[in-house]
Amino acid sequence: MTTFDQILPKLDGVFEQHRHRLARLGSIVVNRDLNSRIRLIVSEVVLADLEAEGVLRGVVAGLVEALGPHAWPQERSVLFASEAELASIFYSRDSFELEGFDTVRVIDRLATEGSWARIEPISPGVPRIVFYSIKGGVGRSTAMAASAWSLAQAGLRVMVLDLDLESPGLSSALLPTERRPQYGIADWLVEDLVDNGDAVFEEMVATSTLSHDGEIYVIPAHGRDPGEYVAKLGRVWMPKVDAQGDQEGWSRRLARLIDALEARWQPDVILIDSRAGIDEVASSCVTDLGGALVLLFAIDGEQTWSGYRILFQYWRRAGGVGEIRERLQLVGAMIPELGATEYHEGLCEQAADLFANELYDAIPPGEVIGERFNFDATDPGAPHYPWGIRWNRGFAVLHSLHSRLEAVDPTEVKMVFGDLLDNLHNLVGPEEIR
Ligand SMILES: Nc1ncnc2c1ncn2[C@@H]1O[C@H](COP(=O)(O)OP(=O)(O)OP(=O)(O)O)[C@@H](O)[C@H]1O
Ligand SMILES: [Mg+2]
Repeated sequence: MTTFDQILPKLDGVFEQHRHRLARLGSIVVNRDLNSRIRLIVSEVVLADLEAEGVLRGVVAGLVEALGPHAWPQERSVLFASEAELASIFYSRDSFELEGFDTVRVIDRLATEGSWARIEPISPGVPRIVFYSIKGGVGRSTAMAASAWSLAQAGLRVMVLDLDLESPGLSSALLPTERRPQYGIADWLVEDLVDNGDAVFEEMVATSTLSHDGEIYVIPAHGRDPGEYVAKLGRVWMPKVDAQGDQEGWSRRLARLIDALEARWQPDVILIDSRAGIDEVASSCVTDLGGALVLLFAIDGEQTWSGYRILFQYWRRAGGVGEIRERLQLVGAMIPELGATEYHEGLCEQAADLFANELYDAIPPGEVIGERFNFDATDPGAPHYPWGIRWNRGFAVLHSLHSRLEAVDPTEVKMVFGDLLDNLHNLVGPEEIR
């Protein structure tokens, strides 16, 4: 019996059997629908070509037999499209090539809108830095609050966005309750559906009292009073449909909001607290918002590596590796007090292995061949080489990160987050602190 993971290998096998005659069919799209059933989309020109029709019949019979429940019944397993329609699907950014067949592309329909494989170009404005982790609870939001604090101390205007909409919390780290703004990101996303985003836009930002020289603009997930947060959250994912019937997905709407916030508040850098895991909001943060740097938080352990492997392999298969890998940077989170050096080395080794297998090109490290991308396992400038954050008792049991940061000793922050902060300052800090 064929199961989901055998669909692509079996497709491969069937097309391989017909490889010598496939050219006759022109471009072929394999549509894997929401129920994970396969059918083909080919040009209607095939209908007028007896020989091509024969090839198609052979391929379809092979697919139906090989894929069983994952194929449409034979008589309904082909859709004929005009050349123009076919081309628009074949070349759409959501399709990927069936490995080894340059005339066959797969279009994968997912129930979620988030597409990890479609990577937006780096935003042309100020740098956007995404804090992401495959597992939750690794100190991502704390590190982001410390980064905002530190960059603002150096005189920068830092904008932070709490996009962990389903379990928000970052804003409480940076704002005392009485300073929280009236609205948050979820409010804007809901109001925007009825063209009412302006009603909340000015009131979804608060400045933090933590900064002395620069400024920290906090955009929370929800306002001081969350209101009907659950009911709002259930609507933020809605696409917006305009008068012409054109749809704008929620993630595009979010990108539009961030562009507007950037234009309004003119920050020097934007920090984005993403949700953890292989999640729809996370995919939007990592791939749709034009992030120049995506920090991948990791603690050593099988769950971390297998999680990142799943994601990296998806990028490899469905496309996106080339666009995303230059923006990735591993962060070693919660490095234990005892044996810190060995722990860091172990982390680095695991990460080097994973990145070499899934993201780097197979050429000798350090060698530049055209656009190829590879790094030595111990190269401190490599994306896999962990920027370390130390586990620290003072940050482990916290009632309020805000009061902690208010009274914090800069040398302690440096001790815990120094490696991350130095690197961030190098990337975005003003000239004098570089
Ligand atoms: N460097 C650190 N050393 C020790 N404990 C820490 C450190 N950083 C954060 N913590 C603690 O770990 C817990 C999780 O931190 P945090 O909320 O920042 O993680 P997160 O990755 O954002 O979690 P989530 O996935 O739930 O959003 C908190 O109790 C926090 O106080
Ligand atoms: Mg968090």
